[in-house]
Amino acid sequence: MKVGSEHFRTIWETSDALETRAVEIIDQTRLPFRFDIVRMETVAEAVHAIMDMLVRGAPLIGATAAYGMALAMRNDTSDENLGDAYVNLLAARPTAVNLRWALDDMKNILMPLEPHQRLKAAFARAAEICDEDAAQCSAIGDHGLELIRGAYEKCGRSRPVNILTHCNAGWLATVDWGTATAPIYKAFAAGIPLHVWVDETRPRNQGASLTAWELGQNGVPHTVIVDNAGGHLMQHGKVDMCIVGTDRTTRTGDVCNKIGTYLKALAASDNSVPFYVALPGTTIDWSLRNGKDIPIEERAETEVTEISGLTRGGDIETIRIVASGSNALNPAFDVTPAEYVTALITERGVCEASEIALAALYPKESKI
Ligand code: MRU
Repeated sequence: MKVGSEHFRTIWETSDALETRAVEIIDQTRLPFRFDIVRMETVAEAVHAIMDMLVRGAPLIGATAAYGMALAMRNDTSDENLGDAYVNLLAARPTAVNLRWALDDMKNILMPLEPHQRLKAAFARAAEICDEDAAQCSAIGDHGLELIRGAYEKCGRSRPVNILTHCNAGWLATVDWGTATAPIYKAFAAGIPLHVWVDETRPRNQGASLTAWELGQNGVPHTVIVDNAGGHLMQHGKVDMCIVGTDRTTRTGDVCNKIGTYLKALAASDNSVPFYVALPGTTIDWSLRNGKDIPIEERAETEVTEISGLTRGGDIETIRIVASGSNALNPAFDVTPAEYVTALITERGVCEASEIALAALYPKESKI
């Protein structure tokens, strides 16, 4: 998507010779105040980028892990090094299942090859994973666009469609387009008047810092709200639909996403507001039936007790907002049971959040 007038993806390889090829990413910890590009040359740097959230969002975590495997092959293409890279990358973050999906895919392709073939194959497959993700998100956008068009027709084309989103499931969370934002970008391009309510998404503020920024860069009308405002807006008819992303969805349609998503789904249900979840097939964990079995990442207390922002002098600073001595708890995700999800928007179409509907869309993948 656009940054200024330029088109960017979130991750790309450099044009160096294969043996010294690097991978570049946008440092999302610096947005919206700085647009810094970071060069990664080692698997350790890829692990750090995922763990410290320079990159984040389920599909982009998967793409970065795939490139991490390729970087691991630069100096040592042995089975042992391949195995170590897999283990270290897998441990970087526990909830987004795209990480495991991408690593399994890379390992299954690289392991049967002769070591001297692995470097080239690894970069080639990582690039394909990125292209596939961008294509899947674009297709999610095409399917979701029709839901937004439906909402516009429903209000008699009398006003913009109001869409609420939580966290950042935008292009910054994927390779391009985003999941929750893809229908928004497509509908906007199709000329459907719309407006996005952007949940700030404490504690890391991915909504305020990332979603608002990327919507702004692409000209989409939006308003940032505190996390607690969504229910109130729904009660007053100010939200036509919610669209969120997911880090892991079970085969039965339970949806794990950024902490606070569940509360939005409850409020949407109470107010008969459709609650949609956008996801590529790589975010479905076919091995799980129950959302309660999804591992929920717990992050540092400091993400709750501190906050970062731009000082009036133009510096990025972190300040404490909780009295010293108070403990903080920081679960990064929650699970919305399938019953609260109106529909899933996938690259293969829109379906009910249920095992039967998902298996019908993904017949091969569902047979494990
Ligand atoms: O902790 P984050 O920023 O990685 O969490 C991201 C989310 O919760 C997104 O909604 C999810 O990964 C879907 S991204 C298309």
